[in-house]
Amino acid sequence: MSDDGPMHAQREEAGRELPDSGTAGLSAANGAQDGVPITHHARRVSSFRNRRSTLSGGQQELWERRWPELGAEARDTTGRPLPRDLPQWFGRQAPVVLEIGCGTGISTLAMAIDEPHLDVVAVEVYRRGLAQLLGAIDRTAKTDHPVTNIRLIRGDGLDVLEHFFGTASLTGVRVFFPDPWPKARHHKRRLLQPETVALIADRLVPGGILHAATDHAGYAEQIVEVGDAEPLLQRVSADSRLPISVRRPETKYEGKGLEAGRDIAELVWARVE
Ligand SMILES: C[S@@+](CC[C@H](N)C(=O)[O-])C[C@H]1O[C@@H](n2cnc3c(N)ncnc32)[C@H](O)[C@@H]1O
Repeated sequence: MSDDGPMHAQREEAGRELPDSGTAGLSAANGAQDGVPITHHARRVSSFRNRRSTLSGGQQELWERRWPELGAEARDTTGRPLPRDLPQWFGRQAPVVLEIGCGTGISTLAMAIDEPHLDVVAVEVYRRGLAQLLGAIDRTAKTDHPVTNIRLIRGDGLDVLEHFFGTASLTGVRVFFPDPWPKARHHKRRLLQPETVALIADRLVPGGILHAATDHAGYAEQIVEVGDAEPLLQRVSADSRLPISVRRPETKYEGKGLEAGRDIAELVWARVE
């Protein structure tokens, strides 16, 4: 990982706005980040960077085939929020877990398979990551155990929290390895800030879980401080009886942290009753 920013900093071209070939009407020139209009988060600094996200031919074909059913944009091209009716989208009424910044969706898929009674909404700004998750879901379609409890949203997870979900509507919120933004001048870009954690706490049902994991010691300290200071949250042990599982598979990103000898902080809070 670069020490100048999140894990993908090395893969992007520093300072360049990278247009998304697949999103009509949006361009970096008018302020899009990976095709996500920035009008809605102009009021706060974003926790993500521009990334090139050209899809391969196969991914593009898959996107056209499966995205209309399993995916949605957080905003339309004019910047209007596009909230979805979740029971209609999933075709059932079930407890909902939101994962913010799912990357390529390794944890998302494995955890959704482990908990088929939960509906999982995975939000990511990185289109190629979403395409990989879409591909993984699609590969289960012809098996005996097709995965049917994941939906994908492309956009800013905070925007989705604000506009897709009401107070006390989520059974869990997962934030695994949020970009650490290690430089002090970038700390304001970290996703888990007091306001964000307050918003998450508001969206959780009583007893609902906020589960965060990070391999960055400084960010872990900040998350602990912010989570413990939130009056609606109470820290709980990962071993206690919880409404959602906190067992995660190791992701590629996490593997790199472990290889580099970094400790993983697993942080879990429950919304007070
Ligand atoms: C370090 S990666 C970790 C990905 C994945 N959770 C994992 O453990 O492998 C962080 C991801 O969060 C995404 N991200 C950052 N801020 C976000 C936001 N506000 N909304 C949605 N995704 C965001 C980034 O695009 C990036 O893919």
